[in-house]
Amino acid sequence: MRNIQRTLVLIKPDGVQRGLIGEIVSRFEKRGLMLIAMKFMRISKEFAEEHYSIHEGKPFYRGLVEYITSSPLVAMIWEGPDAIEAVRQTVGSTNPVEAEAGTIRHDLSIITSRNLVHASDSAETAEKEIKKWFADDQIFTWTRIHEDWFTGLN
Ligand code: CMP
Repeated sequence: MRNIQRTLVLIKPDGVQRGLIGEIVSRFEKRGLMLIAMKFMRISKEFAEEHYSIHEGKPFYRGLVEYITSSPLVAMIWEGPDAIEAVRQTVGSTNPVEAEAGTIRHDLSIITSRNLVHASDSAETAEKEIKKWFADDQIFTWTRIHEDWFTGLN
């Protein structure tokens, strides 16, 4: 039985400012994941504080909230077999210098505080984050032609 999952991915303000939206989206598309929701938005300080509430009190927390609210970002939901782990693998470790070659963070970034992408870290977090970032009517499931060549599921 395939474990079809959904996960939240953000292209953070540095990705937008550096003109990397297309490059980052392309990596998930090429991996075989399916985009089922996407929006371009600038989030409020309150929304950012809630999103990153788990880091509240850490030395980097204030800077993180400033960074994520400094400019628009792209919020997306990607779906696919084991999507949470697959996306995290494609994104790479939080610290870009520890990320594996070929990952987004390794290939396109150099410091943790400007690591381009956020991705849900577990099934529980993904569910919570998706609910927080997207209304049900902003999510679109669709049928991909030639699905068989990506996942064998058709
Ligand atoms: P993200 O995957 O969005 O989850 C939390 C974010 O906090 C992380 O990516 C980084 O952008 C940021 N972060 C985590 N650890 C540090 C750190 N030590 N210094 C600065 N920023 C950090």
